[in-house]
Amino acid sequence: MTEDTNFAQLSPRLSLGDAEPDRNLALELVRVTEAAAIASSPWVGLGDKNAADGSAVDAMRSLLSTVNFNGVVVIGEGEKDEAPMLFNGEHVGNGGGGPEVDVAVDPIDGTRLTALGINNALSVLAVAERGSMFDPSAVFYMDKLVTGPEAADLVDLRLPTKQNLHLIAKAKNKPISQVTVCVLDRPRHQGLIEEIRAAGARTKIILDGDVAGAIAATREDTGVDALMGVGGTPEGIVTACAIRALGGVIQGRLWPQDDEEKQRAIDAGHDLDRVLTTTDLVTSDNCYFAATGITDGDLLRGVRYKDNTIRTQSIVMRSKSGTIRFVDGEHQARKWEPYTR
Ligand code: FBP
Repeated sequence: MTEDTNFAQLSPRLSLGDAEPDRNLALELVRVTEAAAIASSPWVGLGDKNAADGSAVDAMRSLLSTVNFNGVVVIGEGEKDEAPMLFNGEHVGNGGGGPEVDVAVDPIDGTRLTALGINNALSVLAVAERGSMFDPSAVFYMDKLVTGPEAADLVDLRLPTKQNLHLIAKAKNKPISQVTVCVLDRPRHQGLIEEIRAAGARTKIILDGDVAGAIAATREDTGVDALMGVGGTPEGIVTACAIRALGGVIQGRLWPQDDEEKQRAIDAGHDLDRVLTTTDLVTSDNCYFAATGITDGDLLRGVRYKDNTIRTQSIVMRSKSGTIRFVDGEHQARKWEPYTR
């Protein structure tokens, strides 16, 4: 973690060069995820996923229109006819120019967690140079393997689970009994969970939210060494943007659910055997990732209310500089009245 320091002042030898014009973008993006998290928070624990999501989308869209970039949503809330807001292909930004970028939105990663009041729901946004994000539209799911920098160059999604777990244990210099793998709680993962346990490793089963799970897998001292299993392709691309800054790796293989989806993927030119890596999922090394906690989680605290203020906690990263910032926000509650129920 680095602090928001003017390094150029501290050291005249350290030139930021052409990186300077879009340095502020990272902090603008935090304002967007803060808004979505605050807007969804009145719905935490009320059992209404759609209301929480609708409120988050609304706030995210409104704040995106203030950001100084020329963005196209490549991962959004659906096609235009199905979702009127933040649809794929929608142009976002303040219209004032700025860098040309691809935008991936996930106003709530963990809508069910939010509706049930369970930990680890995040509001997430990723941005990368125009044309650099993998197009996830052909296949909804992908099989994923995520781990931190230590074993990033060793693991391979094509290897048996047990072998990957031994490689991670060796790279991290610990016994396999101390390796923990985050897995989404889904019937499709029953075999995977058995394989992990049979290899002598542990599981951390999560209800939802594999973006947060993947970030935990790449960072030190989280108690999570890897994420494995099938989750959303869009979440895989968002995760790749974060991993570009964090270090580590995501490997993914498209996982069509039926013959129709398989054919669609083949028609779109995808090789279903190919293992896509971090740099395939986002080819640019100039990308940003921002997330704000909705409910309390391992990575971030959720939205909290005290007297007339609302507190938020966010993380923002930029791959080019490798800067990772944790941002604590304190907001005037009255400004957010339009989003109260
Ligand atoms: P949403 O909150 O957008 O529904 O996503 C939650 C999530 O758990 C993702 O983190 C994950 O990638 C995906 O759903 C898995 O999909 P499914 O719930 O269909 O198995």
